[in-house]
Amino acid sequence: MVTGMGKTMVWAHRGASGYAPENTIPSFALAKEQGADGVELDVQLSRDGELVVIHDERIDRTCNGTGRVVDYTLDELKRLDAGKTVPDYGRTDLGKAEIPTLKEVYELLKGSGMMINVELKTGIIFYEDIEQKVMELTARMGMEDVVIYSSFNHASMVKCKQLNPLAKCGLLYGDGTLFMNEYAKRLGMDYLHPALYNLQYKGFTEMCRRDGIPLHVWTVNEKEYIQKMYELEVAAIISNYPDRCMALRP
Ligand code: G3P
Ligand code: MG
Repeated sequence: MVTGMGKTMVWAHRGASGYAPENTIPSFALAKEQGADGVELDVQLSRDGELVVIHDERIDRTCNGTGRVVDYTLDELKRLDAGKTVPDYGRTDLGKAEIPTLKEVYELLKGSGMMINVELKTGIIFYEDIEQKVMELTARMGMEDVVIYSSFNHASMVKCKQLNPLAKCGLLYGDGTLFMNEYAKRLGMDYLHPALYNLQYKGFTEMCRRDGIPLHVWTVNEKEYIQKMYELEVAAIISNYPDRCMALRP
């Protein structure tokens, strides 16, 4: 979808993480239940090289344990309780609040028509071959048409494009950087994933529209900003509250 053309999509940030523990099967299942058009999730590698869905390099904030993801095997990570971000989450019918593998999330959402924005967490630890592993899984599961990749580490996105020029890739960025549309074009990227506050730059959305670069904006949680993004007709908003976004969508 090109910015300014068609309906703004709503993607659930780490799943419906405003309600259910982030980056868990319950949070992705809830996003689906709430009618989101897609989900955003974060991927790291375990000690034994498995693709696991967790935001931080460490398990401490989201799980009942301590240490780095990369120092645990998948088996060990699976034994953790990953429900720490929403401790009073009541529902048990949507699955267990454990660290899911990327494959498990793909299996949950396959055939739902939902988009999956896989964010490669390669900013701090440069996980060896994570790009290749993720892309191979996507291809093996026949989900290339619904998966898009993003990263704050733009070299990771360049690598994805080198591995498969048809892969859909977006550049994540937070700080106020100018001419990101030109930079994205130079790197051959498909999308920009700006932090919400970057949308204040005058003429920014127009420039991106002119250059055919759709915007996937994060993290849009408050009514005022959700409405603003609809007015600007960005391609997607990434939100912890997909139900709120759906209810406000014109
Ligand atoms: O992909 C959008 C957003 O998730 C990027 O920041 O830190 O929440 O992964 P973060
Ligand atoms: Mg993320």
